[in-house]
Amino acid sequence: MTQTIATTPFDDQKPGTSGLRKKVKRFQQTNYAQNFLQAIFNSLEGFAGSALVIGGDGRFYNREVIQSAIKMAAANGFGRVLVGKGGILSTPAASHVIRKHSAFGGIILSASHNPGGPDGDFGIKYNIGNGGPAPEKITEAIFRQTSSLTSYRIADAADIDLDRIGTSDIGDMQVEVIDPVADYAELMQQLFDFDAIRALLRSGFRIVFDAMHAVTGPYAKEILERQLGAAAGSVRNFVPEPDFGGHHPDPNLVHAKALYDLMMSADAPDFGAASDGDGDRNLIIGKGIFVTPSDSLALLAANAHLAPGYAKGLAGIARSMPTSAAADRVAEKLGIGMFETPTGWKFFGNLLDAGKATICGEESAGTGSDHVREKDGLWAVLLWLNILARRGESVQEIVTGHWSEYGRNYYSRHDYEEVDIEAAEALVGSLRKRLPELPGQSIGDLTIAAADDFSYLDPVDGSRSDHQGIRILFDGGSRLVFRLSGTGTAGATIRLYVERYEPDTTRHGIETQDALADLIGAAEKIAGIVKHTGRAAPTVIT
Ligand code: G1P
Ligand code: ZN
Repeated sequence: MTQTIATTPFDDQKPGTSGLRKKVKRFQQTNYAQNFLQAIFNSLEGFAGSALVIGGDGRFYNREVIQSAIKMAAANGFGRVLVGKGGILSTPAASHVIRKHSAFGGIILSASHNPGGPDGDFGIKYNIGNGGPAPEKITEAIFRQTSSLTSYRIADAADIDLDRIGTSDIGDMQVEVIDPVADYAELMQQLFDFDAIRALLRSGFRIVFDAMHAVTGPYAKEILERQLGAAAGSVRNFVPEPDFGGHHPDPNLVHAKALYDLMMSADAPDFGAASDGDGDRNLIIGKGIFVTPSDSLALLAANAHLAPGYAKGLAGIARSMPTSAAADRVAEKLGIGMFETPTGWKFFGNLLDAGKATICGEESAGTGSDHVREKDGLWAVLLWLNILARRGESVQEIVTGHWSEYGRNYYSRHDYEEVDIEAAEALVGSLRKRLPELPGQSIGDLTIAAADDFSYLDPVDGSRSDHQGIRILFDGGSRLVFRLSGTGTAGATIRLYVERYEPDTTRHGIETQDALADLIGAAEKIAGIVKHTGRAAPTVIT
C-alpha cells in the first residue's frame, strides 16, 4: 500500500528565516510540496513508530498538503499523527502539542503573516521534538536532500476526515484528529491569573482582539470570551478564512489600521490587540498609545513576575539583534542574563532549552517564553492582561512609567519590499566593503562609533552564524541596522532598523519618526538606498 513516486528535484527549496515559503502557484506544481516533505523525512533519523504533529494556519492549499503529509508520514514509518481539526493548529499551539505529547517533531503549514488565497503564499516548516523550529543544521540537511531527491513515498489511502475529532488508521499508523484549542487553553490557565483577568474584564475594562480572519480566531473566542468573560464581540474577524478575507494577516500599523484607528479614537476601548496568520505574532495598542514590540518585550519582562507562571522570576531575556535594547536595561536591573541572537525564532531554542532565557522577543511583533518554543501572540495578550489586572493602571500609565524608569528607546523599522534582488545585494555588499572605514566618520551631529556585520556564536552548542545584519553604532547608543529579509517570496526586501536611546523624560513625547529623523537621514547618506533601489520612500514603516 506504500507507493514510491518518481520525482525530480526543484532548485529553489532552500528554507529561509522560517521554513520554505513560496507562492501558492509554485507549491501547486506537481510533486513540489511532496518533494519538500520527503526531504524533511529523509533528513531525520530514528523516528520509526513515533508521533508527528501536523497542522496549519488554515490558508488556501492547507488541506491538500495536510492529506499528503499524513499519507507520507505513514509511508515513511511514523507510528502516529496528531492533526488539528480542520487542519488547524496555530504555530504556538503546534509547538505545545509536540511537547505535551512527546512527539518526534511537527510539520507546520503556514506562511505566517503573508497573504493567502490562490494568488498568495504558502509555506512548510519543520519543528523538532522540543517544539521549536528546526535549527540550521537540520534546515541545511533538508535543503541538501531537496537537490538530490529521486522519489517520494506515500500511502495509497483514502483522505482523512479532518473535520471529525477521533482516530483512524492508515496501515500501521494511527491518525488522531484533535481539538486544536484544548491543550493550548489549558496551558494558558496554568501560566496566568485567570481570576484576576476575569475580575478586570468584569469591572468594565474593555478589550478588542482582531484575529484578522486567521488562525487565532477560535483560540481567542474560547479563551478571551468564553473562559475570561470578555464581552461578546470583543474578538473580531474570528473565523479563519483561506484568504484571510482578502487581507494581509500582518498585525502592524498598516495592515491592522482599523484597530489602530479605533484605539486612537475618543471612544477607544482600554486595550487592543491583534495576531497574525498563524498566531505567533502580536500587536498591542493601549487607549491612545501604540506599544512597540521592542518596548512590549521590555515591559513584559519587567512585570512577568505578576503572572503565576513567572512568579519565581526570569532566568534571562533574549532578543534578536535588530530588536531595540530596551529589554537589556530590564535585564541589567534584574541582574539576569541578556542574549542577542540573529533574526528568527530558531535561535532562541537552545537558550530556552538550556534554561538561560525565560522570555524572548523580536522587533517584528514576536514575543514568547519557555512555555513553548515558538513566539506566541495570544500568550503576549494574556500576559499583558494579567499585568494590567494586577497593576490596576492603564497601558499608557504603565508604558510612560517604564520610560521614566529606564529611558525610552525610540524605534522604527523601514521596509523596502520587492526590490530588485541584485540592487539589494549591491547595497548590502557595498556597505559590507566599507565597514572598516566607517568608525570615526560623522554625519551631522552623529559620529559612528563602530560598524560590523553581526555574527553569532551560540553559547549552548557553539555553532556560529555569520552575516546576520550590518550594524552601524553611533556614540550615545543610537543605531542603524540593515539586513535583507529571509521570508519574502518576491524580489528582495531591505529592512532598515532605526533606534535612539533617550534618557531625558522631558523628551519622551516626540513623534517617533521625528525623534529618528537625523538617523534616517544618516542611513540614506551611508547606504544610498535611493540610488541603489530607485525608491524614494519605504513601502512599510512600522
Ligand atoms: C521576519 C522577521 C523576523 C521573524 C520572521 C518570521 O523575518 O523580521 O523577526 O522571525 O519574519 O516570523 P525576515 O523577513 O526579516 O527574515
Ligand atoms: Zn507568524
